[in-house]
Amino acid sequence: MNNIIELKNVTKRFGGITALNKTSMNVTSGEVVGLIGDNGAGKSTLIKTLVGVHEPDEGDIIIRDKKVKNWTALKARESGIETVFQDRALCPQQSIVWNIFMGKELTYPFGFIREKEQIREANRLIREIGFTSKLIDAESPVGNLSGGERQGVAIARAIYNKAELIILDEPTNALSLNETQKVFEFVNNVKKSKRSVLFIGHNIFHVYDISDRFIILDRGEVVHQLNKKDVSSPEKLMKIMKDIVNKH
Ligand SMILES: Nc1ncnc2c1ncn2[C@@H]1O[C@H](COP(=O)(O)OP(=O)(O)OP(=O)(O)O)[C@@H](O)[C@H]1O
Ligand SMILES: [Mg+2]
Repeated sequence: MNNIIELKNVTKRFGGITALNKTSMNVTSGEVVGLIGDNGAGKSTLIKTLVGVHEPDEGDIIIRDKKVKNWTALKARESGIETVFQDRALCPQQSIVWNIFMGKELTYPFGFIREKEQIREANRLIREIGFTSKLIDAESPVGNLSGGERQGVAIARAIYNKAELIILDEPTNALSLNETQKVFEFVNNVKKSKRSVLFIGHNIFHVYDISDRFIILDRGEVVHQLNKKDVSSPEKLMKIMKDIVNKH
């Protein structure tokens, strides 16, 4: 197994609440993993722990088979783990190229920005992940893009930042069917490029469509890890989720 990231028996408490309880999971290279669970199951806590926002109270974080200590958001990014949060991190008044290179511009000596190169690179990136419309290019303002396309820009930026694992937190929330389809295309292109995706979603049908494998969290515990080939339909996955909630 080619693990990019692994959590081993990670416990995270907030005061009296145990948000993660001896949680173990992993993501290997080139796979799309769907992380699902009811509200409050611990999904966000899990990804925040993975990307160094929360420090675990117990357990290990293992990156490419090496246990890490004092894991931080910066170290996670330097290790090729990027998180795309819905909309939040983009600047809509600015162009796609500006948003992709934000803070990491290509420069000449004395800090002059290599604008033409950036535009060329941004155009390459957005085509690579699946922007096909002739009306959109690197110089289009992000404010003109649809929700799905904005997710695409954020994914393109993650790729420019050399992401090997892209974590998408509820990327299809509040998107129309068409837009959701677009995000799926982007994710499929990320997968084709041998990068990995951890996909967090409420919509079981969306998660089923896009994932190779499912990790189901319940009250901070991993209660199921299933390969898609072992779950014949999204309805089956939905049934598993319902059974978990009904047990409460
Ligand atoms: N910063 C925090 N301080 C205190 N409690 C927290 C904090 N973050 C999460 N929790 C608690 O930990 C538990 C897990 O929350 P978490 O946000 O990880 O769930 P989730 O699966 O992402 O839920 P949702 O689907 O609603 O986003 C919840 O009981 C939540 O109230
Ligand atoms: Mg959450």
